[in-house]
Formats: sequence, C-alpha cells, structure tokens
Amino acid sequence: MSGSAASSAPSSRADVGDTIVDWYATAARDLPWRRPGVDAWAVLVSEVMLQQTPVARVEPVWREWMARWPTPAALAQASPADVIRAWGKLGYPRRALRLHETAVAVTERHGGAVPDDVAALEALPGIGTYTARAVACFGHGRPHPVVDTNVRRVVARLVHGRAEAAPARTADLADVAALAPAEADRAVRFSVAAMELGALVCVAGTPRCAACPVRDRCAWRLAGSPAHDGPPRRVQPFAGTDRQVRGRLLDVLRAAADPVPAAELDAAWDDAVQRSRCLDSLLTDGLVEQTREGDYRLPT
Ligand code: ADE
Repeated sequence: MSGSAASSAPSSRADVGDTIVDWYATAARDLPWRRPGVDAWAVLVSEVMLQQTPVARVEPVWREWMARWPTPAALAQASPADVIRAWGKLGYPRRALRLHETAVAVTERHGGAVPDDVAALEALPGIGTYTARAVACFGHGRPHPVVDTNVRRVVARLVHGRAEAAPARTADLADVAALAPAEADRAVRFSVAAMELGALVCVAGTPRCAACPVRDRCAWRLAGSPAHDGPPRRVQPFAGTDRQVRGRLLDVLRAAADPVPAAELDAAWDDAVQRSRCLDSLLTDGLVEQTREGDYRLPT
C-alpha cells in the first residue's frame, strides 16, 4: 500500500454515514420499540404516537397499548371510544382514530400483516411519507431514507452548511440516501442513527457539537457556524388554543361512563364561543358523537 495521506489516516476516510452508525451503537437510547423482536405493527404504533409527542410521554402509553392490542386484528375489534380513551393525553387524538382505521385496513387488505412496501404503507389511513418509510425500515429492515425534522436539521448543517432545517422538500430523501452506507443492514441503522443524532446532539438552537461524531466534517461548522438566516422557528402555543379546549372537552367525555349533558361540558371551558367551536370540530372529526337526547359521548 502506498503512503498516501488517505491511507495513513484511516479514521478520516471513514464515511460520514458509517461514523454516524458507529456512534449510534454507543450513544443510542434504549427505547422499547427499538428492541430486537419488536414487530412491524408495534413499530407502526410507536411511529404514529411519536409523530407529534415526545418519547417520554409516548413510552408508557405505547406499552399499555401493545399489551392490550398486540396485533392489527386485536385493535380492529376495539371500539373507537376505547381507542380514544387509551390514547390518553398524547394529544392530536385524530391520530388514534386513524390508527384504528389502519388496523382495520391491515386486517382486511393485508390479512393482518403490516406490508413492507412503501406504496402499500402510504395507502393506509394517516400514514405519510415519513411513517411509511420508518415502518418499512425499522419494522421490516428494508433500507429506506427516513426523514423527520431531526434528520432534516442534521442534513441542513452537515451537508448544506445551514443553521436550521429548511422546510420539507422532495430532495430530502435523496440527500439522506446519499449519506447512507451501501450495506443494507448499516443503511437501516443509519436511518435511525441520523434521527438519534438530531434528537440528542444536533439539536435545534444550540447544538452539542463537542459530542458530535462528525463535527470535523460538518459544513455548518466548517463555514464558521453561521447564524440562522430564515424566519424564526415557530414555537407552538398551547394555553388558550382550540387544541387545549378540545383536550378539556375530551377529558370530560373520557372520564364519563355515560353520555354527558351539554351543561357538564360548559364547566370545562368558560368562553362559550370557543367551547362551541371546539365541540363542533370534535363532532366533525368523529371524535365525539351526540345522542338522540342531545347528550355527548365518545364514538361507539
Ligand atoms: N426510533 C425510531 N423512530 C423513532 C422516533 N420517531 N422517535 C424516537 N425514536 C425513534
């Protein structure tokens, strides 16, 4: 072998994707849906729950949910009311109804087996670009780029030298695929590793570059860590929003064994205009139904 710079510094030749995979082996969180033997249905449930809710809140609900409904066929037989109750306080409860519909679709269209094909997964209710690839990759071991906000931020910095993630775009999948190791098993691990790097190290705002395995190859750092030059990041408000009011109304119905008269819902929120708007939207979404007597309950 010649004494070239490349061959005398093997660690610097290691591919960025491989370096991130090796970092993941030492730094990853031990999350229950990542354990060996967890099937594609359990992965799908975790990914739907994790779409808009942090890991710490998802973990206990996911455990209870999987113990109660371990298969799509089991969940398909549950009532929407049970499903909404079990969703607890994860938020964005339409996801619970979509998950129930997906359980029915997997049972009816796919004989109860979660498909491993991205197009078939994307055809399921509430399963989009991200979730379809996450299930194919983490649930079935198929190498696919899996791009969430964390991964978009890693790519924005590492590849494009920008401080924060740009809005989602079609090229994201190609950007991530270009970083993935060629070997299929490592490409699968790379997809979860890039996500973990964004969740633990390459975080929004002030990243923890000292802990980053690829800091020496990061375009953003090599450019002098320029400040974010786009619009400020949105922080979603909660207090006083319709989301909070919908949550309060659902809490009342979740706790009730029998249909609830309107007066009982009035106590959940003072502003009558907002309350009525939120109740209407829950009815429209199919999360609440009205009895013939005019009382309210979770859908049966
Ligand atoms: N592991 C696999 N998918 C994940 C996700 N969406 N959030 C956290 N950890 C994950």
